Amino acid sequence: MTSPSTPFPHRHLLGIAGLAPHEIRYLLDEAEHWVALNRAASRKHDGRLEGLTQINAFFENSTRTLLSFEIAGKRLGADVINMHAAQSSVKKGETLIDTAVTLNAMRADVIVIRHQSSGAVRLIADRVDCPVLNAGDGRHEHPTQALLDALTIRTRKGSVEGQIVTICGDVLHSRVARSNMLCLTALGAQVRVVAPPTLMPAEIERYRVAPFHDFNAALRDADVIMMLRLQNERMDGAFIPSSREYHALYGLTPERLALAKPDALVMHPGPMNRGVEILSSVADHPEKSAITEQVEMGVAMRMACLDVLTRRSRGVAGWA
Ligand code: NCD
Repeated sequence: MTSPSTPFPHRHLLGIAGLAPHEIRYLLDEAEHWVALNRAASRKHDGRLEGLTQINAFFENSTRTLLSFEIAGKRLGADVINMHAAQSSVKKGETLIDTAVTLNAMRADVIVIRHQSSGAVRLIADRVDCPVLNAGDGRHEHPTQALLDALTIRTRKGSVEGQIVTICGDVLHSRVARSNMLCLTALGAQVRVVAPPTLMPAEIERYRVAPFHDFNAALRDADVIMMLRLQNERMDGAFIPSSREYHALYGLTPERLALAKPDALVMHPGPMNRGVEILSSVADHPEKSAITEQVEMGVAMRMACLDVLTRRSRGVAGWA
């Protein structure tokens, strides 16, 4: 354990659950510094992770998250190794423990894990000696996505507190939605969640959010609209009649966008199903869409997380 007096006393980043609002804000503040640096033409970094080995162990497909963690580690000077495990080679239980033992034997300094099973990342984290970052586990959590989303909102709107944020789509299968509900409510946003009845989690009442089934009603006066991808690969049955019907009820169109505040921000974690949950004219809107900015914030946010979590092993003063 790191000292409880440090601004971020956690060994791992496994989820937003368990983080105090001031700890979330600390990570956002740290990331802001990297946003500015990444924008500078030279993109010079101080190599603070030099000599450290970062393993990105991805047991599930990813494009932007993997790339973002790789760029983040390299900008900080780490040696980054990507491990793509075949979907079928690793499952649950014993084999997952074997994976943890193997990863640990490689003596990484930080491990970033994406896994298709909820809880798998914690299981590995409990068995390795270095910090672990959750890059998405099943339907459970995707903490760095929620953090980069909060940073995007804070950068564009000045603060997260008091903003009305409407999260729309396949909430049931979405770790992005779960982490965002926790993060945004912790930071004082008013969160609305809208989904067809079949895609709304039964435990939604446990979150401090307002559930809706009518998208138009949920959009009224919204400051931020966060669209989710229809996660076809996680659906083992028919959750929606058809993607056309889904689009008619839950697709973000220019007409629907007009129901929100005039300066409403449109977000999507990617990858997008254009024409299903969002129309291109909205996704590519030059002023309202923050989708590419989310990607930019993602690199800075992950740099901040990698830096903060390795401070103890790097012997940074005050983090012993
Ligand atoms: C999300 C994920 O993988 O959970 N994407 C991402 O991290 N950029 C959302 C999704 O897959 O729909």
